[in-house]
Amino acid sequence: MSTLWHGRFEGGPAEELMAFTVSLPFDQRLAVDDIVGSRAHVRGLCRSGILTDVERDDVLAALDAVQSELAAGTFEFEASDEDIHTAVERRVTELAGPAGAKLHTGRSRNDQVATDLRLFTKRELAGIATRIVTLQETLLDRARTAGDAYLPGYTHLQRAQPVLLAHHLLAHGWALARDLDRLGSTIERLDVSPLGAGALAGSSLPLDPAGTAADLGFARVFENSLDAVSDRDFVAESLFDLALIGVHLSRLAEEIILWSTDEFGFLRLDDAYSTGSSMLPQKKNPDIAELTRGKTGRLIGNLTGLLAMLKGLPLAYNRDLQEDKEPLFDSLDTIALALAAMTGLLASSTFNLDAMAAAADAPTSAATDLAEHLVSGGVPFRDAHAIVGALVRRSLDEGIALRELVAASPELGPDALSLLDQGIAVRRRTTPGGAGPAAVAPQLAAFEQLVAAARLRVGE
Ligand code: ARG
Repeated sequence: MSTLWHGRFEGGPAEELMAFTVSLPFDQRLAVDDIVGSRAHVRGLCRSGILTDVERDDVLAALDAVQSELAAGTFEFEASDEDIHTAVERRVTELAGPAGAKLHTGRSRNDQVATDLRLFTKRELAGIATRIVTLQETLLDRARTAGDAYLPGYTHLQRAQPVLLAHHLLAHGWALARDLDRLGSTIERLDVSPLGAGALAGSSLPLDPAGTAADLGFARVFENSLDAVSDRDFVAESLFDLALIGVHLSRLAEEIILWSTDEFGFLRLDDAYSTGSSMLPQKKNPDIAELTRGKTGRLIGNLTGLLAMLKGLPLAYNRDLQEDKEPLFDSLDTIALALAAMTGLLASSTFNLDAMAAAADAPTSAATDLAEHLVSGGVPFRDAHAIVGALVRRSLDEGIALRELVAASPELGPDALSLLDQGIAVRRRTTPGGAGPAAVAPQLAAFEQLVAAARLRVGE
């Protein structure tokens, strides 16, 4: 078996070495980025006078042929192909002859793999951003059509105060807006070309890192060759961004799971987005939401695994770094699928607005309003809190309806009873960013604008 580095070695590599160290099974995914990076490198070598125009064109033609073979599935991998970089270079050399053997001039797999992975990550994160916007549009759409429907807002999973359904849905939308922001700044920071750093120290040949960076569409070029080949911050940041998107989706998922229970009864899942039980004929299960919640554990694991892998590495390249790819691929795939599935789940679910309103209209939901009513009459809030709290306790202890106690309360006065009427409490949440219709209207408009601008940015 003949590897790229066979010159210095006597005999071929052990079977166990190859079995343990190959990355081809997973890094094939970088094939197109590898070819794109090689094209830029070859053009750079030609600009620097290291390759003639003819040699450059021969290598470029061979790279095109390799790309076609890979796309058609006719590319034949060999046992000596350690990774996609080796495989592409071997085939280019077979096709282009002596010119092909010049492809790797002034380049190492260390700057090559860093270049490929940055190109790949930049594109993939942009794809995730697009899917986030689609979910935001679904949240917006459902919020808009929810109108003035309301449900209990919870703290400690205990009913606290009523909130508009639109307000609740948009809360998830704003979290996703921060995710989008974060992806944008991660992309901005990773937009640096490492090509030209060589194995670790640059080259004695007149390379043109700025030229290849521009050719590849990178915003900037590396400042330090050691850093260029060692830096995997962009992978760590991507994994964090993806894990946090997972956490946000998981929290939404948890609510969908709760809301779809008979106990809550706030939401009915569409048949196409739920699963049945092999034994219990009556069951309709929220598996998409549960797997979103479950897979988020793995997303967090991918991040912590990568950070642990990086923490002990001296400069510059160490083979440990090959372990950056699988978690990244896995997190990207998981989030892409989760975003699409959760979008479909949310878009197809039916809200049970009557059950939501009934739960929110429990008289105790207006307890804060009763206290605030006392406050408007000059009672200090702490005293008002105690007065209303005592009424609630009496109602529970003695089984007397709160309405009756409120009507009979000398402190609360005649106007207080109307605060317990259906749908009143939510309408009283009028402060900016609050949960009532008057405050939600401008919020909806602001979110709509934000999402429209995001859609323009990310494209379809
Ligand atoms: N497959 C390797 C990786 O993913 C490519 C770089 C190998 N470089 C080396 N010096 N062995 O990191």
